[in-house]
Amino acid sequence: MNFIDLVKHRKSIRDFLDKSVEREKIMTCLEAARLAPSASNSQPWRFIVVDDKQLKKKLCKAAFGGVYFINSFCKTAPVIIVVISEKSKFTTRIGAMFRGTQFYLIDIGIACEHLVLQAEDLGLGTCWIGWFNERAVKSVLNIPRNKKIDILIALGYYDREKLGTEHGREPMEKIASFNSY
Ligand SMILES: Cc1cc2nc3c(=O)[nH]c(=O)nc-3n(C[C@H](O)[C@H](O)[C@H](O)COP(=O)(O)O)c2cc1C
Repeated sequence: MNFIDLVKHRKSIRDFLDKSVEREKIMTCLEAARLAPSASNSQPWRFIVVDDKQLKKKLCKAAFGGVYFINSFCKTAPVIIVVISEKSKFTTRIGAMFRGTQFYLIDIGIACEHLVLQAEDLGLGTCWIGWFNERAVKSVLNIPRNKKIDILIALGYYDREKLGTEHGREPMEKIASFNSY
């Protein structure tokens, strides 16, 4: 698939097949994330891959309880990737302060989208998950309390037949222009 077709092909997956994902494929996804660009090459990320069935069950129960129940579909995903936002380099943090831009979040976003698109290329589905009980995730995975988890990614095989076709995006003229706002 060429790149634009790959991008068109990707959709958020919320119903996964009960099929485990090969470690080799997970490693390829992580490699795509590892190679992502970041402000001052800070690489402010760490990925914890949860593919152990029992641990994943425990994680989902903790992460998607109560007000977070809307994302409990994640329990069908054979893999949950927990993305920890690590500290950027000093220069990036100073730059971020002066610019008022959280560069680390841009970095995390790029790395995660590399991972997501690599997964799609390998026939795997993903869903970005921003709504979860962060404290509970930290507790299950022994992640220090001072760390920040901004996003999770659910990963696994899926049935393409079950998906709709529409991405539902704004028209080009609304989101882009040449030479002026
Ligand atoms: C930062 C971020 C956080 C998201 N959080 C959630 C989430 O908590 N639960 C969910 O079901 N989808 C979540 N999504 C997926 C979006 O809802 C989805 O990307 C959007 O509706 C567009 O649909 P598509 O991915 O199928 O093209 C998130 C996406 C992003 C980029």
